[in-house]
Amino acid sequence: MSLHPLRGLTLEQLQRRTSVKWRAYPPDVLPAFVAEMDAHPVPAVVEAVSRAMRDGDTGYPAGSSYAEQFGAFSEQRWGWRWDPARAVPIIDVVTGLSLAIEAVTDRGDTVVLSSPVYGPFFMVIQRTGRTLVDTPLTTDGRLDLAALEAAFAAGTRDGRRAAYLLCNPHNPTSVVHTAEELAALADLADRYGVRVVSDEIHAPLVAEGFTPYLDVLGTEQALTVTSASKAFNLAGLKAALVVAGTHALPALADISHMVGALPSHLGVIAHTAALRDGGDWLDGVQEDLAENRLLLRELLNRELPQVGWGGGVGTYLAWLDCRDLGLGDDPGEHFLTAGRVALARGPDFGPTGAGFARLNLATTPELLTEAVTRIRSCLDQR
Ligand SMILES: Cc1ncc(COP(=O)(O)O)c(C=O)c1O
Repeated sequence: MSLHPLRGLTLEQLQRRTSVKWRAYPPDVLPAFVAEMDAHPVPAVVEAVSRAMRDGDTGYPAGSSYAEQFGAFSEQRWGWRWDPARAVPIIDVVTGLSLAIEAVTDRGDTVVLSSPVYGPFFMVIQRTGRTLVDTPLTTDGRLDLAALEAAFAAGTRDGRRAAYLLCNPHNPTSVVHTAEELAALADLADRYGVRVVSDEIHAPLVAEGFTPYLDVLGTEQALTVTSASKAFNLAGLKAALVVAGTHALPALADISHMVGALPSHLGVIAHTAALRDGGDWLDGVQEDLAENRLLLRELLNRELPQVGWGGGVGTYLAWLDCRDLGLGDDPGEHFLTAGRVALARGPDFGPTGAGFARLNLATTPELLTEAVTRIRSCLDQR
């Protein structure tokens, strides 16, 4: 039987949830901002977590089941084989990114990113006391290799260390970097001795065409931070992994000594069960998302032809170019106050996010239609 995790839940059922998506705004606001899915839970996760609760199995995590299961998943979905001994468990991806940056650079060193990009990337660089250098994506949303080379050259001058925070696939544009682009990045990083830290939290959502950065030649010095949380909707059950390239094990040792950054035991149980037994559920999510993208395209063509959308398939997020609507740098503000629909704000993704808003399309067709209808209606209220 095929599963359709993103079908059938009503607004009333969803409003019983108490996570940030359903509590950040009053009930008359339709939330489409944060990256949570309006999905039925993964049956295998419900079973595994319920069993742990019944057994009182609520202590500290042990063992390497999460890394092993992620390894099996990577091999099956992407043909990427790696030794689970090259991974350490960590509480969440953002913590993993911070620790990875601290392991491969020193205070004041350059860390490069490519905006528009997931807002906490900026915070990670600032909080770790590194120097942020932005090499924005090209106008068609690809990595700007010439700008990256210039930034890598400048950042490693005088023998300093430098790193690049890669978002693979890219949030918010949903662009899936190609194997060729990643190979070109690896070549530049190798040439300048820049350490790449790849955030791959959205990767399991991609139906085809995803390339794990560590599966590209010349990435032995890189680190990947990943999790099953985004694809299986498990952000509330915290767990993630830092995986080291074959020459990056010393950085991994630094990270694994971090007291207090361990995942939750229930998180590990949940993520491991999802990766082991949630394959049909994930296939169903991928099918539902593909249909939702077609629906969104139709809705935009009909209701909002002035809004641009690249249609990326790397996440369940749609990066909407609202610059022709004449709503200024933060169109999401008008959508919220006049339309009662909450999108993620473009400027939160860096200066290149001005005039954009990010819509979460991991919901039912009914609620996706409602979100676009609300955006459309509020355009007349200016
Ligand atoms: C690119 C990216 N990295 C990290 C995260 C957050 O991960 P975590 O909750 O594991 O810190 C998100 C959440 O949406 C994300 O989009």
